Amino acid sequence: MGFQLPPLLHVINGQRVASRDGATLAVIDPSTEALMGQVAHGSAADIDAAVQAADAARRGPWQELPPVQRGKLLFRLADLVTREREALAWLEACDVGKPISAARGDIDGVAETLRYNAGAADKIEGAVIPLGERVVDYTRLEPLGVTAHVVPWNFPLGMVARSLAPALAAGCTAVVKPAEQSPLSVLYFMDLVAEAGIPPGVVNVVCGDGPGAGAPLVAHPLVRGVAFTGSVEAGRAVGIAAAAGMKPAVLELGGKNAIIVAADADLDRLIEDVMMGGYENAGQVCSSSSRLLVARSVAGEVAERLAARAAALRVGEALSDPDLGPVVSAEQHAKVMGYLDGARAGGARLITGGGRPAGLPRGYFVAPTVFDNTDPASRIAQEEVFGPVVTITPYDTDQQALDIANSVSTGLVAGVYTRDLNRAFAMVAALETGSVWVNGWYLGGTQAPTGGTKDSGLGRERGLIAVRNFLRIKNVAFRL
Ligand code: NAI
Ligand code: MG
Repeated sequence: MGFQLPPLLHVINGQRVASRDGATLAVIDPSTEALMGQVAHGSAADIDAAVQAADAARRGPWQELPPVQRGKLLFRLADLVTREREALAWLEACDVGKPISAARGDIDGVAETLRYNAGAADKIEGAVIPLGERVVDYTRLEPLGVTAHVVPWNFPLGMVARSLAPALAAGCTAVVKPAEQSPLSVLYFMDLVAEAGIPPGVVNVVCGDGPGAGAPLVAHPLVRGVAFTGSVEAGRAVGIAAAAGMKPAVLELGGKNAIIVAADADLDRLIEDVMMGGYENAGQVCSSSSRLLVARSVAGEVAERLAARAAALRVGEALSDPDLGPVVSAEQHAKVMGYLDGARAGGARLITGGGRPAGLPRGYFVAPTVFDNTDPASRIAQEEVFGPVVTITPYDTDQQALDIANSVSTGLVAGVYTRDLNRAFAMVAALETGSVWVNGWYLGGTQAPTGGTKDSGLGRERGLIAVRNFLRIKNVAFRL
């Protein structure tokens, strides 16, 4: 073991503290099922202490700091994340089963997100509105105040950075509630927040689960803005609670993302991209490419090539740097297995994978799986599995492909693979998703907005627009 675990306690006002009631939760390495330790399990009392600290920090030195100085602190924090890349990557790998090289890439993404938003901190400009010579009217873009950040386990620190960086750039303070499955990296990161010179109380972390810690955080009256990433079900509850408190909420929820593969598509590129989009992070990505809708004339070839490639992926423990680690938890493993059994029972044709891979009796492993000839109305083709599972459904006309793509309740990302520009533009317009990627996957990045339509959520993260999530407009008018 090359690195020490951080203290597994909440971080409130710069102090490491246990839960008021002493409760803890197990921290498990999904590659080995080994118990790594016990992390504090927060409840309403811990949330209240953290929110009070964030509120005091908001009214204290943080609000006096010129925006350019906030930016400098975030640049410094990014440099510290880069310095600690190996430790942070190791923590992610052990906590969630992510292959170590993928975890390194995630940490590079965290630093990039911090730098992008650091540069935005001093570019938050209001407007002067012409109302005639006798009135001066202008807008102030003011920080919302204390903000809540409730994040999932698939990219533990990446998800924190995605909403925390713009919130801090905007001048807000924060309480972060990591997922109960993955508290380690953000607890380590909090030492870097302090070392960067960000005042105590500006960023606080309360560990714990959704009902115990997440719900009281969202509902706390001093919390004025909410950023949530996770399941549709929890996102809906968070959205309702935020609305009751008149708090803006950005909700980034799940997807069941289709790629439409036309007969003229570059199949080499497609197969390469599905290796990434379908199986990277063991398929536990909201924007994974889990449904392939393939023109019937090439569906057989796609199925054959995809199954061969998927079967050749190396599955193993995160620190051995395989292509594919385990899924995050026993619960997630059982959920994925349930989908696989249901699909087989429902008549989907399994062409590779379908269960626990041979030779890995321990750890939450799932073999990379492909189902061919999948009924587009079946559960496996409609619901987010969040595992290394890709379904193939043949189609006959472009309209049929679009209808199937749009037939799900979510609308996060869709893909189109074709060499026909007119087809691509027409499909981009017709697809009911927040993003459309043409002839590539996991496009976009820190600089480009992302988010969903339909049940995939509300609002957009990333890009400059994400800073606006944490600002409110005050209109000011002077009569001369
Ligand atoms: P979840 O949505 O329950 O958890 C995500 C975060 O929300 C965690 O920090 C959790 O503690 C918190 N949370 C849960 N209920 C809450 C509530 N009522 N109020 C405030 N916070 C709450 O997701 P879970 O149970 O970990 O995974 C279940 C399924 O959700 C997965 O199988 C997957 O399909 C989907 N999921 C989607 C993600 C995405 O990025 N779109 C990320 C994680 C899960
Ligand atoms: Mg864990």
